[in-house]
Amino acid sequence: MKTPPTILLVVPVAVSFFQLAYGGTVQHQGSTCTVHASDDASDDAPAILEAFQLCGIGGQILLHDDLYHIETEMNTTGLKDVTIDLTGTMLWGTNITYWRANGFELGYQNMTTAWLIGGHNLTFNGHGVGTLDGNGQLWYDFTKGVSNLPGRPISLVIGNTTSSHFDGIRFVQSQFWTMAIKDTVDVLLENIYVNSTSNSSQPARNTDGVDTMFSDRITFRNWTVTGGDDSISTKANSTNILIQDCVFHGGLGVAIGSIGQYNGVFERIENITAERVLALGSRYAGYIKTWTGIQQGFPPNGKYPYQNRFS
Ligand SMILES: *[C@@H]1O[C@H](CO)[C@@H](O)[C@H](O)[C@H]1NC(C)=O
Ligand SMILES: *[C@@H]1O[C@H](CO)[C@@H](O)[C@H](O)[C@H]1NC(C)=O
Ligand SMILES: *[C@@H]1O[C@H](CO)[C@@H](O)[C@H](O)[C@H]1NC(C)=O
Ligand SMILES: *[C@@H]1O[C@H](CO)[C@@H](O)[C@H](O)[C@H]1NC(C)=O
Ligand SMILES: *[C@@H]1O[C@H](CO)[C@@H](O)[C@H](O)[C@H]1NC(C)=O
Ligand SMILES: *[C@@H]1O[C@H](CO)[C@@H](O)[C@H](O)[C@H]1NC(C)=O
Ligand SMILES: *[C@@H]1O[C@H](CO)[C@@H](O)[C@H](O)[C@H]1NC(C)=O
Ligand SMILES: *[C@@H]1O[C@H](CO)[C@@H](O)[C@H](O)[C@H]1NC(C)=O
Ligand SMILES: *[C@@H]1O[C@H](CO)[C@@H](O)[C@H](O)[C@H]1NC(C)=O
Ligand SMILES: *[C@@H]1O[C@H](CO)[C@@H](O)[C@H](O)[C@H]1NC(C)=O
Repeated sequence: MKTPPTILLVVPVAVSFFQLAYGGTVQHQGSTCTVHASDDASDDAPAILEAFQLCGIGGQILLHDDLYHIETEMNTTGLKDVTIDLTGTMLWGTNITYWRANGFELGYQNMTTAWLIGGHNLTFNGHGVGTLDGNGQLWYDFTKGVSNLPGRPISLVIGNTTSSHFDGIRFVQSQFWTMAIKDTVDVLLENIYVNSTSNSSQPARNTDGVDTMFSDRITFRNWTVTGGDDSISTKANSTNILIQDCVFHGGLGVAIGSIGQYNGVFERIENITAERVLALGSRYAGYIKTWTGIQQGFPPNGKYPYQNRFS
């Protein structure tokens, strides 16, 4: 085969480097930021962060392209009066080395998250189609059924958030727990679809649907959860939690706890209501997880020496 003249190669290579360096782009008009995905599958996270910076207070952020690649961690906190509208898929990257070395500390059980979101009066609408895809198969195969691997990230943490509404979002193949809600008050999450299903012989272990902690007045309405662990779990200092009209496929159902895992730390769970919940092939409909007062390891996490099952 004849080698093409060098000059013909230089131009396309230069163009592709230019695109790789820039990832997605933001179109900013008034208080609306529209994020356009890169067309070379490079990291769209910097553009998404820029959109939250430009329009995260009193604006709207539109993610309407089919596919966004998220190769780096995202911290979008301090938001206010913002609408986030997602009709495409956000697909998390496969660099396990990167994710294990990065992510934001949850501040509980040494866990980290790939995306931390927070603020006051957020409306996040997925219209039943907007999807967060954690590329979790990679993690299920990598962890080989080990429950807790340091740095395996939670897909989304809602932290330090008040008076907000998450609606119609899909979460598939979560890396680890799908969601955690911490230091948060008055949030409604409805019409949420979660499905983490392994396609290999390795289980989708510890893919909880959602965990709450240090949070008050959180409502989960019309969730469909398929996963390899707790479907919805209310942990330390969760109060006034309402769970309604949910369907769980497999998994462990509603978990109250664990609490009492840390020596000398007082934790409470109060006023949890679950109604009209259908658990199909789940190990429990609901259960209570507490510890015996003897801490095991640090962080004390992953072993349940004592469990109480109800219904
Ligand atoms: C909440 O934010 C929305 C914009 O997403 C705004 O229209 C609404 O007025 C805000 N609510 C309050 C109580 O400020
Ligand atoms: C994966 O991430 C690590 C750590 O950030 C980095 O050194 C490495 O170059 C990345 N690998 C690829 C294929 O991007
Ligand atoms: C997220 O970003 C905010 C604002 O820059 C910062 O104050 C906060 O410490 C960051 N959170 C984490 C967990 O790094
Ligand atoms: C967990 O975090 C604590 C601080 O919160 C730290 O002292 C401890 O070393 C961490 N443990 C592991 C296994 O990372
Ligand atoms: C929590 O959010 C409020 C505003 O929404 C901010 O003033 C405060 O600094 C945040 N706290 C932390 C610990 O990030
Ligand atoms: C419940 O949520 C699903 C998405 O998981 C949606 O298709 C369905 O319309 C919702 N049901 C109601 C009554 O809103
Ligand atoms: C969950 O995903 C698996 C694999 O894609 C699929 O077979 C299953 O039907 C899904 N479950 C629900 C309840 O949608
Ligand atoms: C399992 O899922 C991975 C990641 O999505 C995919 O690359 C692979 O083809 C799937 N394997 C089977 C047997 O479906
Ligand atoms: C218990 O939580 C429900 C919401 O599930 C709330 O309506 C009720 O007021 C709470 N009860 C008390 C005593 O706070
Ligand atoms: C949980 O809340 C109680 C007050 O109800 C408080 O005494 C305790 O310190 C909190 N626990 C943690 C770990 O913050």
